[in-house]
Amino acid sequence: MAIFSDNENIQKPLKLERDKKSENLESKEIGYDRAFENNIRPQTLEEYIGQSALKSTLKISIEASQKRNKQIDHMLFYGPPGLGKTTLASVIANELKTKIKITSAPALERPRDIIGILMSLKNGEILFIDEIHRLNKVTEEILYPAMEDFFLDMTTGKAQTVKTLRVPLPRFTLIGATTKAGALSGPLRDRFGIIHRLQFYTIDELSQVISRTAKILDIDIDDEGAKTIAGRSRGTPRIANRLVKRAADYALVKANGQINKQVAKDALDNLHIDESGLDSTDREMMKLIIEKYDGGPVGLETIAAALGEDSRTIEDVYEPYLLQEGFIQRTPRGRRVSPEGYRLLGYKIPSGYTTGQQSLF
Ligand SMILES: Nc1ncnc2c1ncn2[C@@H]1O[C@H](COP(=O)(O)OP(=O)(O)O)[C@@H](O)[C@H]1O
Ligand SMILES: [Mg+2]
Repeated sequence: MAIFSDNENIQKPLKLERDKKSENLESKEIGYDRAFENNIRPQTLEEYIGQSALKSTLKISIEASQKRNKQIDHMLFYGPPGLGKTTLASVIANELKTKIKITSAPALERPRDIIGILMSLKNGEILFIDEIHRLNKVTEEILYPAMEDFFLDMTTGKAQTVKTLRVPLPRFTLIGATTKAGALSGPLRDRFGIIHRLQFYTIDELSQVISRTAKILDIDIDDEGAKTIAGRSRGTPRIANRLVKRAADYALVKANGQINKQVAKDALDNLHIDESGLDSTDREMMKLIIEKYDGGPVGLETIAAALGEDSRTIEDVYEPYLLQEGFIQRTPRGRRVSPEGYRLLGYKIPSGYTTGQQSLF
């Protein structure tokens, strides 16, 4: 059964139901708590921090759609987990004063799952499909005419008596989210009018996320405290929110409940999160490449097996930030640790270290 919910449910925590399979990725992150997350989700574009290029594109699309009284174009958001894809989808629904139904590709197993949802939509409503790169072929093919011309091709009867029926659909908007835009099929990708990659957040933006969350949760934190946590949040609001909660616990037990720079630092040290935001898995992964594979290149599967992690988790959750910060590099022959990565972990850069053809040193 496909489970979906509308935006009323987003406002009421706990009721945002999703299937178990789609939680794999997110639940791998420590302490993931969906009810908490829904509580602090921004509701409007105004409250949605950062992603300014995307927001200005969206503002125009939203206004144009309202002026034309026409549904907004299908949109695809991609980027690492926790950057605000699901949040943005519900913000858009909210700005358009329309409903959103939320589902994820693994929940759309049989044709009738997607057909049921499509038929339940009304003009202008939004269908959000998370992990859209995981749609099966049949579901994808049902979506093509639905997205392009707003109808379903249904077949009735058997063998010689088979007839195709064109069932009209409401003019809905599909918003897809994925951590892997590259894994989407070409024909599906082509049917999105707006395709946008979400960026990692700056420390300033994350400080704002943290201050906002602290206010909602009645957590006492000063600017320096927020900045300290922001700097260790891997450019990711979900992580920032999680860390501020942990720091609040720590402050309550050890420091009269107030989070300042020092308390934030102690709390995060206590969680083994270093100043660059790397956690023990990140460090283990880089150490492994340095110690066992001379800094790489080494294949993703080999790394995953050695760490006892799922390769998909490494690729989608851990690696993007390490790549963005330049601690590791991707080469055709696998991953390698960069000179910055060596330095960060306090290793000496090997004398023969080269990048590609030319020697760096
Ligand atoms: N731009 C933002 N401003 C404020 N908070 C945000 C923003 N983006 C994400 N968040 C917070 O981070 C959490 C994770 O966001 P989510 O939309 O679930 O990420 P994704 O769907 O990309 O994995 C949410 O609880 C939300 O409160
Ligand atoms: Mg999401």
